[in-house]
Amino acid sequence: MPETPVTGDVTESAGGAGAERRPAPVPVPAPSASPASAAPPSSAAAPSSASAVSGSSAASTASRAAPSDDVIRTRGLTKRFRGGQLAVDGLDLTVPRGSVFGFLGPNGSGKTTTIRMLMGLIAPTSGAAAVLGEPMPQSVATVLPRVGALIEGPALYGYLSGRDNLVRFDSADPTADPRTRRQRVDTALERVGLSAAAGKKARAYSLGMKQRLGLASALLQPRELLVLDEPTNGLDPQGMREIRALVREVAAEGTTVFLSSHLLDEIEQVCSHAAVMSRGRLVVQGTVAELAARAQGRLVVRTPDAARAAEVLAAHGVTGLVPGEGRVDGSLGDRDDEALPKLCAALVEAGVRVQGFGLERGTLEDAFVALTGEGFDVAG
Ligand SMILES: Nc1ncnc2c1ncn2[C@@H]1O[C@H](COP(=O)(O)OP(=O)(O)OP(=O)(O)O)[C@@H](O)[C@H]1O
Ligand SMILES: [Mg+2]
Repeated sequence: MPETPVTGDVTESAGGAGAERRPAPVPVPAPSASPASAAPPSSAAAPSSASAVSGSSAASTASRAAPSDDVIRTRGLTKRFRGGQLAVDGLDLTVPRGSVFGFLGPNGSGKTTTIRMLMGLIAPTSGAAAVLGEPMPQSVATVLPRVGALIEGPALYGYLSGRDNLVRFDSADPTADPRTRRQRVDTALERVGLSAAAGKKARAYSLGMKQRLGLASALLQPRELLVLDEPTNGLDPQGMREIRALVREVAAEGTTVFLSSHLLDEIEQVCSHAAVMSRGRLVVQGTVAELAARAQGRLVVRTPDAARAAEVLAAHGVTGLVPGEGRVDGSLGDRDDEALPKLCAALVEAGVRVQGFGLERGTLEDAFVALTGEGFDVAG
C-alpha cells in the first residue's frame, strides 16, 4: 500500500518520477485510492529540506567522482527518522550502468528508505547520493525525468480507469508528445498484461493489477534508469514470472534496472548484480555470481543408508551433517574438490549404497546467513 510521505510534500508514486513534480495542466483532486501519497502533481515540489541536507558538499564530491558508468552511487548515506530509528546506516552503494541490480534485504532492512533518498523524496540525515552522475536530492528536477520509478505501491487515481490513470501520468510529463499519448499508453498496458482490464476503475483493481498499472506508468517512456521497489509484491507466481520477463526485456533495451526485493530467488533469477542489506547496513555487494560463490556448496549424498553415511562422513571430517530421508548433507569446510573422490570411495568401502553424490551450489540465502550469522528474518 502507498505510505504517507514523511514531509507530505512529494508524491511517492509510479511513473516517470520527474513527471510527478511538474505542474499539472489542470488541477486534479487527490485520488481517493491513496489520498496520502498521491497528492496532485501541482502540489508536488522538491522536499523543502533538500537544500538543508547535511553533506551537500560531499554530494557534489560524489557527483564529480561518479564515473559515468555508475548509475547510482552513495557514500555514507544515512537516514535516522525523527523517532530515532536508524533506518539506513552509512550506505556505500555502487550500481553499474547496464546492470539489473537487486537490492535485497529482509523486511525493515532499509530498502525503501534508501530508494526514497535516491529519488529525492526524503533528505538523508548525512552522507551523499548521486543518481545518473548528479547529486540528489539537489538535482531532482534534472534527474527524475530520466528515471522511471515504482515505489512501495503505486499511487493511483481510484475513480479513473487504468487507461485514464496512464493518460493522466503521461500528460503530467511535459516531455511527452500528446499526439502519441494513446499509443504510449496502449503499449504500456500491453507490456504489463493489462489491456483487457484497461477500462476498469483502478479502485476495482486487485493488488496485483494495481502493481502492474504502477509498472506500466514507469514504462510509459524509455528511461535510463528504472527503480522498482518490490515490483512483484502482490502478484501470483505467473504474474511474478511475467514481471521478471519484463525486467529482462527492459534491461535488454539498455535501461539499468534497480529493483528491491526480499525474495532471494527472485534476485537470483533476474539480477546480474546485488547488494544485501541487513538492519540498515550494507552487508555485501557484487555480481550475483560472486555473491553466490561466497556461499559454500554443500555435499549431498543420496542413499537409503543415511545414518551410516553420516558416520562415515563425520569420520572423514565433514561437518554440519544433516541426515534426512534418503539423503544426508554436510559441509566440506575449506577442503577442495579433490576430497570428493576420497569421500565417495570411503562411503562405498563402508558398504553405504550411494545413489547420488555431489555438491549443491550455495544460494544467496546461504551467503546471507554466512555473512550475517542471521536468518533472513524481519529486522527490529
Ligand atoms: N517514516 C518513518 N518513520 C520512522 N521510521 C520509519 C519510517 N519509514 C521506515 N521506518 C523504519 O525504518 C526501517 C527501514 O524501513 P524500510 O521501509 O526502509 O524497510 P524495507 O527494507 O523497505 O522493508 P520491506 O521489505 O518491509 O519493504 C524500519 O525499521 C522502519 O520501521
Ligand atoms: Mg520496503
